[in-house]
Amino acid sequence: MRMITRSLSTLLPSGIVAVEQEPFSIYVHWPYCSSKCTYCNFNKYVDPDVDNERMERSLVTELKTELTHWGLDRKSRPVRSVYFGGGTPSLARPSMFQSVLDTLDRMCHLSKDTEISMEGNPSSTTSVQTLKSLRDIGINRYSLGVQSFQNHILKELGRDHTPSSALRSLLDARSVWPGRVNMDLIMGHAGQTLEDWTKELRFTMDVVDDHLSLYHLTVEPGTALHKDVTQGKIALPDNDQATDMYEAMIELTSKAGFEHYEVSNFARNQAYSKHNSGHWLGVDYLGIGPGAHGRVRDPRTGERLRTFNIRDPTGWMRQCAEQGTGLRRTVAISPEESKQELVVLGMRTKLGVDLETFRRLTGQDLLKYLDADATRSSIGGGLVTLTPGALSPTERGMAVADELVARLVP
Ligand SMILES: C[S@@+](CC[C@H](N)C(=O)[O-])C[C@H]1O[C@@H](n2cnc3c(N)ncnc32)[C@H](O)[C@@H]1O
Ligand code: SF4
Repeated sequence: MRMITRSLSTLLPSGIVAVEQEPFSIYVHWPYCSSKCTYCNFNKYVDPDVDNERMERSLVTELKTELTHWGLDRKSRPVRSVYFGGGTPSLARPSMFQSVLDTLDRMCHLSKDTEISMEGNPSSTTSVQTLKSLRDIGINRYSLGVQSFQNHILKELGRDHTPSSALRSLLDARSVWPGRVNMDLIMGHAGQTLEDWTKELRFTMDVVDDHLSLYHLTVEPGTALHKDVTQGKIALPDNDQATDMYEAMIELTSKAGFEHYEVSNFARNQAYSKHNSGHWLGVDYLGIGPGAHGRVRDPRTGERLRTFNIRDPTGWMRQCAEQGTGLRRTVAISPEESKQELVVLGMRTKLGVDLETFRRLTGQDLLKYLDADATRSSIGGGLVTLTPGALSPTERGMAVADELVARLVP
């Protein structure tokens, strides 16, 4: 147990460092997909005529502008992680990744420790050769959206791949990035039984690399799934069934040597996602691309801000050409919101809320901020533990993270 705690702590930004030396992350959004999945309301577009050159140019333009504007163009501030998400980044040309990474290399401090991830879909993971060229450009972690290994579920989700192409893509990716491949799986489909889910998990444990993201299917407004559910055409598993599936997930992943380090994330051999962990720990990140958002500190005022980009790719590219950035607006993060965010995100992770990070980012002690009675009763009730470094949820606490936060936050 102690070993795990120590290894998880390596995810933390190290101690107190001056702002100009603090690590930060970069998220780059590729907004195109080959088709629309029934459940997804991410900022994505199906466009048969993507202007790849203009997109690449715009991404680089915005990156340069934003790095300079937020004072991140310093060799003293290490880049903790770069994440190419989407949409479907595996549809982008390798030159897009190359241009972005070359720009970062020139303007910032990329190192061998910088985690550089991309998301991919089985239908656009074309060959081992392509994956190798992405690795040679600098991508050192790959996240594959499998969602299910069952054909009828993939069809229901509107996925444009088969179980066998997903498996092939996974094995190809594992051969190129051994130990650094994540796969996403979704549970809680219409008609899914505990038995189906257990079967899915058992198969997954035989083929998975060292990282797994297991998401509970959420019904998002504006999706085909939302329409079907609200019209009563399909019914998703009820709460009891969902709880049984959650418990099966904990049991089978743990038997396979996975550590449940965030509500939806599992790693073994310490293959934690540095990018996502940074997000949960309050690390600044720059959001680049259509609809991307970020969390940065204004170097002039020290104020923490959220940034929001124009969502529509054409409008975003147009503004990049005219103004050097597709930034739509910034919103100040109040001290109260900063505190809440650290607790909300922290209670979803095994590490919990790091006391020093909380003090550094908010200027207050976590234990003075939280409701004292609720903290005491949550510790007594076995939902959280307090160590000299952190207030952390137990496995039971993490399962009810939202309720826990509602009790703890005054
Ligand atoms: C937005 S996708 C981008 C990556 C890639 N296009 C793909 O589909 O794998 C990232 C992940 O979000 C998850 N996701 C998206 N919408 C979801 C929903 N409504 N419920 C649960 N998971 C969802 C999926 O598991 C997906 O792999
Ligand atoms: S889940 Fe992935 S592939 Fe499907 S629509 Fe969303 S971003 Fe595109």
